[in-house]
Amino acid sequence: MFAFTEENERKFEEILSRFPAENRMAATLPTLWLAQEQHGWLPPEVLKYVAERVGVTPAHVLGVATFYTMYLTKKPGEHLLEVCTSVSCCLTGGRETLKLLCDKLEVLPGETTSDGKFTVRAAECLGSCDTSPMMQVDNDVFVENLTPEKLDALIDELKGQPWGTRTKLASFCAAGNRRS
Ligand code: FES
Repeated sequence: MFAFTEENERKFEEILSRFPAENRMAATLPTLWLAQEQHGWLPPEVLKYVAERVGVTPAHVLGVATFYTMYLTKKPGEHLLEVCTSVSCCLTGGRETLKLLCDKLEVLPGETTSDGKFTVRAAECLGSCDTSPMMQVDNDVFVENLTPEKLDALIDELKGQPWGTRTKLASFCAAGNRRS
């Protein structure tokens, strides 16, 4: 049964302390994020746990979790690769990059590789238009100015990083990324 770790219990208390008791519902988003960071995704039992802890209905939590694309209500692969296909990225090859990535991994957008290692999705603008085409890895790291060679190197690097380890892409960040 899912429950916050001791450390995340402390983080949850800190989240609650940011909101007045009558607006506790506002803690839903950061609590979902905390639960997802711990579990990797948000199956029904984790959504129910969040609802109980925040003190809101399961329907409210489900509504929030399915509205925002950063919450994963379906189990992803060990690494989530989200290629931006909004306007700026499209102009510089975002859609072609998504297709190339899908071809390399033999999946369609939204699918997970047969070994469970990668899930590939299209994403809306991630706010890094000036370094397009770009993608976000594991809901966290930006990999920017994508090229076919960079995709190959990225896949190789991620293959050695199992789920549960904080994604590290130092070689890509050194090449001009703003987040790591
Ligand atoms: S359009 Fe791709 S990051 Fe903005």
